Amino acid sequence: MNFKRILFISAMNMLTVTQVNAQQKLNPEIEKKIDVLMSKMTIDEKVGQMNQYNGFWDVTGPTPVGGSAEQKYENIKKGLVGSMLTVRGVKEVRAVQKIAVEQTRLGIPLIIGFDVIHGYKTLSPIPLAEAASWDLKAIEKSAEVAASEAAASGINWTFGPMMDISRDARWGRLMEGAGEDPFLGGKIAAARVKGFQGDNSFSSPLRIAATAKHFAAYGFIEGGLEYNSAEIGTNTLYNQVLPPFKEAVDAGIRSVMNSFNTINGVPATADKHILRDILKQKWAFSGFVISDWASIREMIPWGYSKDENAAAKAAVEAGTDMDMESGIYVPYLAELVKQGKVNESYIDEACRRILRVKFELGLFDDPYRFLDEKREKEVIGSKANHEAVLDMAKKSIVLLKNEKNLLPLKKSGQKILLLGSLAESKNSPLGSWRIASDNNTAVSVLEGMKQYKESDLQYVKGINTTTEEPTFLTEVQYNTTDRSGFEEAKKAAKNADVIVMVLGEHGFGSGEARSRTDLNLPGLQEEFMKEIYKINPNIVLVLNNGRPLTINWADENIPAIVEAWQLGIQAGNAVAQVLYGDYNPSGKLPMTFPRNVGQVPIYYNHMNTGRPFDKDNNVFWTHYSDSEKTPLYPFGYGLSYTTFEYSQPVINKNQFQKGEKPVVSVTIKNTGKYAGKEVAQLYIHDEFASVARPVKELKGFELVELKPGESKAIQFSLTDKELGFYDNSGNFIVESGTFKAMIGGNSAEVKQVSFEIK
Ligand code: BGC
Repeated sequence: MNFKRILFISAMNMLTVTQVNAQQKLNPEIEKKIDVLMSKMTIDEKVGQMNQYNGFWDVTGPTPVGGSAEQKYENIKKGLVGSMLTVRGVKEVRAVQKIAVEQTRLGIPLIIGFDVIHGYKTLSPIPLAEAASWDLKAIEKSAEVAASEAAASGINWTFGPMMDISRDARWGRLMEGAGEDPFLGGKIAAARVKGFQGDNSFSSPLRIAATAKHFAAYGFIEGGLEYNSAEIGTNTLYNQVLPPFKEAVDAGIRSVMNSFNTINGVPATADKHILRDILKQKWAFSGFVISDWASIREMIPWGYSKDENAAAKAAVEAGTDMDMESGIYVPYLAELVKQGKVNESYIDEACRRILRVKFELGLFDDPYRFLDEKREKEVIGSKANHEAVLDMAKKSIVLLKNEKNLLPLKKSGQKILLLGSLAESKNSPLGSWRIASDNNTAVSVLEGMKQYKESDLQYVKGINTTTEEPTFLTEVQYNTTDRSGFEEAKKAAKNADVIVMVLGEHGFGSGEARSRTDLNLPGLQEEFMKEIYKINPNIVLVLNNGRPLTINWADENIPAIVEAWQLGIQAGNAVAQVLYGDYNPSGKLPMTFPRNVGQVPIYYNHMNTGRPFDKDNNVFWTHYSDSEKTPLYPFGYGLSYTTFEYSQPVINKNQFQKGEKPVVSVTIKNTGKYAGKEVAQLYIHDEFASVARPVKELKGFELVELKPGESKAIQFSLTDKELGFYDNSGNFIVESGTFKAMIGGNSAEVKQVSFEIK
């Protein structure tokens, strides 16, 4: 056994709460202003800063607290409210801000928060779809567009990006994140923070503060069951869950939101270890922590806090600075301090953090700087914003299968039949989490395809995916009985050269409180597809979904499959441009697609185990005996209208000293007939380590654009950051030993080279 030398990159630093790292430096001017202001504040006013109320219309959780609009206004006047959420529009925001600024004793402005999850009004694709682009510039731009529209509407702060890594397709909320991989997730988290916050100076009134959520381990809730507990070990916590949050903190994110789940029995809202030891001390995060909706109060039914007093104390001591909609900090905290049960320094720290972000946003200089009616009209829904989200939508599409060269469609001279109610839906493509958008504003696939005037296009609905149009707060009712449209569709299918079928989940079929036990096409959709296939097998399946689906029959039988998620307001144009070949798809899956629910959790960066499966040698250990071992589509998978060939990767040396950077090179050639883009992916495997490492870990990727016949050499250089990992105490270490570097167009098809770190 080879004992390795261990290099400690960073030992656990016991910093005090006011010490910060290079990324989150404090501005001494602002700190002085906070000192002056806080010296005038009463304990009730300080606690007031820690209180956030929901606005007056959109509700995203159980019964809002704070009473009627009048009662909320009264509390604002008393200085008992530091923030509002879901108040939006210049007029509405001005109304509440004026009360805070002009009618309270100290005139402290409110910070206005909102869920800007994938766009504000001009909706971009759902975040999971955007992740499929692997295009960090486009993702940053998409967040910038979202920020600009929200800011123009008076909002200062978004509850996003969500960066919960998840391996469980049953969990509905993975549509809000970037998929299963912490490396890709971390890069995307940083790109989104940059898109929302710009250069972190907030000198532009079109940038807003961002929130890293949900901290932490929400994506690892048991069974993918919404709001459930997460029982996870340190290896998963440090190496899978936390890395994207660390990237966001390093990118300067200004707030972090608790998650609803417990972590090994402790509600995340009261988890001192992750909030104080890691986030606020080790990472030196200088912004503030907001609870999730009522997550302080929900510690009572969790069986953790015996009453509201106990919940308030546990949350504030753990480091939760602002109370969203529990209504618990205001009535209890000041009293707990007076009784000597909670140390006032916790209140001071929380208040300081919140005021800091308000100062940074320029709200003290001009509380109305985000409030400009003219700007609101100009920015929201601008042509440029529509163009940016269309670009993002095209880049998010993943081509899963294309046999018989069915795609691209011919722009004329081909009889095309379009089927399925989702094809004409102007609502479903908007996806979930789109509170500020207007219903039925998406370009439907039908409308997008109609732009191709020469095309011989016929639309027949054939099937209703749902029985009625769902909303954010209602359950989706999928159609399980109505086959009345089947005959007309079958008749039309006889005469078509090619059939485009839009099937999948409704936009509200994923999202919060939308866990599923079945990942098949819901309702009658698979039956419908099979019926049509019997008549005419020339089918292009356009999938709409917010999570991986188990589409085995389609994969075996349908010649062409296009993963089109929920692509936002420009969905139909994006899909049409891909179908007719005006855009060559280049997306790659950010999540593994299982063959059946029993395989879940299935993910590419799994462990080898002591008895690995080896089909070639007839060794069938680690597998389910009633299922293929492989996934339906692996992580990183996606095709193009052209083809790419990878050379054997080469490495600049075979042995490296610690700190040296191995450089792996590969040449990629476009061997097909279309110009196209390929996402080249680099994985590593650390063969022996003090904590066993996954079989593969993504550590680099690059988008390569190539004309037909063109080749390009690219290089990946591996630093300690890519070569190391967190040990079970949370220390980042790089160990000596042998590694493999693997490069390819998806996680399952790679070419490898070996090297050693001495
Ligand atoms: C969600 C958060 C969201 C909050 C406010 C909660 O239900 O978990 O992600 O930011 O509501 O709408």
